[in-house]
Amino acid sequence: MSSLEKVRISSGSSVPASQYLPAHGPRQSRIAEIMKPTLGPQNWRDNVVDSWRNVFTTLRVPMDGVVIEVAPGEGTNVPMALASMGFKGTLFVIDPAEDVMYATTEPAYKKLLPEARIISVCQSLEDARTRSELIQHYAKKGLVDCLVANHVLDDMLIGQHLSRTMTPSQASLFFSNHYENNLQTAAKTSLAWQGLLGRQDGTTPEGVRSSIASEWVHFACDVGPRTVALADYPSAYFLMYGDALPALKHAEIQAQLAQKQITKSLTQSGIFSTTEVPTDLALHGGTGCWLLAERKITK
Ligand SMILES: C[S@@+](CC[C@H](N)C(=O)[O-])C[C@H]1O[C@@H](n2cnc3c(N)ncnc32)[C@H](O)[C@@H]1O
Repeated sequence: MSSLEKVRISSGSSVPASQYLPAHGPRQSRIAEIMKPTLGPQNWRDNVVDSWRNVFTTLRVPMDGVVIEVAPGEGTNVPMALASMGFKGTLFVIDPAEDVMYATTEPAYKKLLPEARIISVCQSLEDARTRSELIQHYAKKGLVDCLVANHVLDDMLIGQHLSRTMTPSQASLFFSNHYENNLQTAAKTSLAWQGLLGRQDGTTPEGVRSSIASEWVHFACDVGPRTVALADYPSAYFLMYGDALPALKHAEIQAQLAQKQITKSLTQSGIFSTTEVPTDLALHGGTGCWLLAERKITK
């Protein structure tokens, strides 16, 4: 039996039907059940951290093991969960935004996880796969326990679109301020998404999605983590401004479609078994899911 199947079974209420996953069996329901937020909408952040804790427990990630987190930006959900579990292992942090990494991410991670080894890799996921000798070293030895990302697919999609016209530091500025809670900022974010959605240059939204999905699948297949966890819960920001600015609704859909594509390609690789777990982190509406995967082949 895989570790995904050996999860704690709760006797609580059944999992609400998700429109996002047309059908989900007992295995998904069991995992969804243990990942249910319990703290209420006013404790949104704690619910996200709590879900990550449940994921690390479900996937049996050793607290002295090796975790790779992709695209944290200024977010700290993953290290907060690991800190609460006493993580003392090695945490690679991959994000091309060098300014944010050294000014914010790395100091915050070191403070939260004083006993862990934090290794910053200021590269895109694709470049980290092909250029980071340290990641390649850990990969070759089959030492990576878990590859994770918290709500990154929309950012990776728009990041790839913006990289055509922006320098990495301009793009990192976009990521730092595009969630400011006002209509003016939302309109700018929407404009960027309109650019991606309306691309007429042969690189359609499908093309951008395929390229981000390949970035993930190539990384996972080459580095060979024992497990993968990718959270794509609905963005409260996109929901809040989506009626006024429909491109933001489409942004959410593009992220969901990208995740579906990653799930499909990981499954088709034959290297991973995958499970999509409907999320109850949709406290503000919308639908979404977690992608959990386990490597089938021992390195
Ligand atoms: C807003 S943050 C992501 C949210 C964050 N994980 C959280 O928990 O709130 C977006 C980050 O994605 C990074 N990013 C965008 N494209 C990327 C790629 N191809 N590879 C790695 N990181 C990427 C950006 O540099 C930025 O720092």
